[in-house]
Amino acid sequence: MASLQAYVEKNKGYINEQLEMYVQEYTREGRLRDAMLYSIRAGGKRLRPVLVLAALEAFGSPVSRGISTACALEMVHTYSLIHDDLPAMDNDDTRRGQPTNHMKFDEATAILAGDALLTLSFQVISEDVQLSDSEKVFLINELSRASGPIGMVNGQMLDMQSEDESISLEALEYIHKNKTGQLLRFSILAGSYLSGADEIKLAEMLKMAEALGMIFQIQDDILDVIGDAEAIGKPTGSDVSNQKSTYPQLLGLEGAVEQKERYVQIAQQSLRRADVANTMLSELIDYLSQRNH
Ligand code: IPE
Ligand code: IPE
Ligand code: MG
Ligand code: MG
Ligand code: MG
Repeated sequence: MASLQAYVEKNKGYINEQLEMYVQEYTREGRLRDAMLYSIRAGGKRLRPVLVLAALEAFGSPVSRGISTACALEMVHTYSLIHDDLPAMDNDDTRRGQPTNHMKFDEATAILAGDALLTLSFQVISEDVQLSDSEKVFLINELSRASGPIGMVNGQMLDMQSEDESISLEALEYIHKNKTGQLLRFSILAGSYLSGADEIKLAEMLKMAEALGMIFQIQDDILDVIGDAEAIGKPTGSDVSNQKSTYPQLLGLEGAVEQKERYVQIAQQSLRRADVANTMLSELIDYLSQRNH
């Protein structure tokens, strides 16, 4: 098996090339395209699209079947970050190691670039000639559920409402399941679904994806406390200054790490049950739990 790093780099290259193509070909020249391209080109781990492709591969399907969905998902994610950084939300100046979209352009442009990326995501799936109509409807339905008022946007609302408030661990988990977990869940669902995984395997993959969402967000919270701003490409200490309830704040740093380890065990167990334990997905879980950026 190729090393995880080589594997991720190869798929990131493919995803970046296709994302660039979609934004170039599906927009008109001008400020809106420039602002969309700015955030798309700013980099990022491409974690969600890589997971779509890794799930497809784990079940033996070609990654090209999921590339439009993978790019659509990254567009939704990038939009969510552009809006998340706005002054009315987290008010952050740096993202992916560069000025945030509204700092580089202006607030109105950042809002519209986000809107455009969100909408383009659904267009891209609906125009993919490789997918059947029923596959398109399934994917668009699941992506809108994951992104919208019962998914990520719901999580973002609750996250904003919980600023300056202390909330229970249970409430925090619910926020994370929505704000971060739903898009990650979609990545695994989409890849597994497109490769034709049966219902039992799909259920295990969803369990894995839910655990992965928690691992990811707990580590995001931990990095906000102990991470290196340069490595993570965004300022640290943002949660404390915004008085956010986070895992380290509720459980202490060690407690947060323990909780994360529990989710790693759950995720690895589900992979074994879905018969895809010896795949890149297993390495991705460990990597995500240990990531420094
Ligand atoms: C950051 O997501 C926002 C959260 C959901 C915590 P990522 O850490 O995946 O950000 P990029 O895409 O690598 O910039
Ligand atoms: C952002 O969460 C999650 C979404 C945009 C859905 P955070 O506010 O914790 O992410 P960072 O820390 O700014 O990347
Ligand atoms: Mg936020
Ligand atoms: Mg933020
Ligand atoms: Mg954070």
